[in-house]
Amino acid sequence: MKIAVTSASGQLGAAVVKQLIKEIGKENVIGIARTPEKAKHLGVEIRKGNYNNRQDFDRALQGVDAVLLVSGMDDPKKRIEQHRNVIEAAKQNGVQKIVYTSIVGDENKTAFSPVVQSNRESEKDVRASGLEWVIGRNCIYIEPDLEYIDNYVEEGEIRNCAADGRCAYTSREELGYAYAQMLLNAKHNGQVYKLVGEAITQADLARIINQVYGTNLTYNPVSVEAYEQERKEALGDFIGTIIAGIYEGIKIGANDVSSDFEKAAGRQHKTAVEMIETIKNL
Ligand SMILES: NC(=O)c1ccc[n+]([C@@H]2O[C@H](COP(=O)([O-])OP(=O)(O)OC[C@H]3O[C@@H](n4cnc5c(N)ncnc54)[C@H](OP(=O)(O)O)[C@@H]3O)[C@@H](O)[C@H]2O)c1
Repeated sequence: MKIAVTSASGQLGAAVVKQLIKEIGKENVIGIARTPEKAKHLGVEIRKGNYNNRQDFDRALQGVDAVLLVSGMDDPKKRIEQHRNVIEAAKQNGVQKIVYTSIVGDENKTAFSPVVQSNRESEKDVRASGLEWVIGRNCIYIEPDLEYIDNYVEEGEIRNCAADGRCAYTSREELGYAYAQMLLNAKHNGQVYKLVGEAITQADLARIINQVYGTNLTYNPVSVEAYEQERKEALGDFIGTIIAGIYEGIKIGANDVSSDFEKAAGRQHKTAVEMIETIKNL
C-alpha cells in the first residue's frame, strides 16, 4: 500500500510522513510538496505538487492508494479550488482513499469563520468524491505559543482576547500520530473526528508554561477590538484579523469541544503538560 502526504515540506505533513515511515516503512510513503527540496530530508520519495496545478497531482498521485490532503494556507476562497485540484486528480488516477485535515471552529461569528467555512466546503467535496474518506478537524496547535515564549517573557504576560474561554490545544506530533492511523485503518472510513486535546484557559496556559519553562507569566485579557487592532499593526491586516478571530473563537467556546482523538488514534491525547514538556525537550 502506497500512501502519499501533500504539503510534506510543512510541519504537519512532515509529522505525518515520519509516523507513516514508522508504521509501514519509507518505501511505502510518498511526500508531495510544492517545494520538493524542502521535503528531501524526510528520506522518502518526493514528488512535486502545487495546489494551484492540477497536472502536478495527476502525476504525483500515480500508483498511490491513499492520500492525505493537508489544507492549504491561501485566502479561504482560493483554497477550495486548490483542494479540488487534489480531490479531482485523486478521483481520476485510481486513488482509493482520501483523508483531509480540516479544522474545528465557529462558522459564522468571528473573523476566523471564513477559514472554517472554506474547510467545511472542502469537507463536502471530500465526502462527495466517491472515494473512501476520513476527515479530521484539528484544534489549534500549541507550538506557536511556545515559539512565542521569548516575546511573552519580554512583555511579562500572555495578552489576547480569549478571556476565560477554553481551547483544546493539540500539537503537530499528536496529529501526525492520529492521521497515520486514519490513513492506514479502514475502520475509520466515513468518519469525521475532532482531533483535539485537553481544553484549557489562557490562565491555565500561562501557569503550565511557567511550570515547564520556569517563567513568571500572567494572563491578561483585552477586548476583541483592541486585540484585533494590535495584531493588525504587528502582523498586517490579513494575518492580524485571522489571529484575532482565532482568539475570539476561543472566547465564545468554539474551541472547547469534545475529543474524538482516542477513537482516531487508538490512544489518549497527551495532556497539555505532557505536550508542552515534549516540545520543550525536542
Ligand atoms: N490548527 C492550527 O493551529 C493551524 C495553524 C496553522 C496552520 N494550520 C493549517 O494546517 C496546515 C498545515 O500546517 P503546517 O503546520 O504544516 O504549516 P507550515 O509548516 O507553515 O506548512 C505549510 C505548508 O503548506 C504548503 N503550501 C502552501 N501553499 C501551497 C500550495 N499552493 N501548494 C502546495 N503546498 C502549499 C507549504 O509548502 P512550501 O514548503 O512550498 O511553502 C508547506 O508545506 C496549514 O496549511 C493550515 O491550513 C493550522
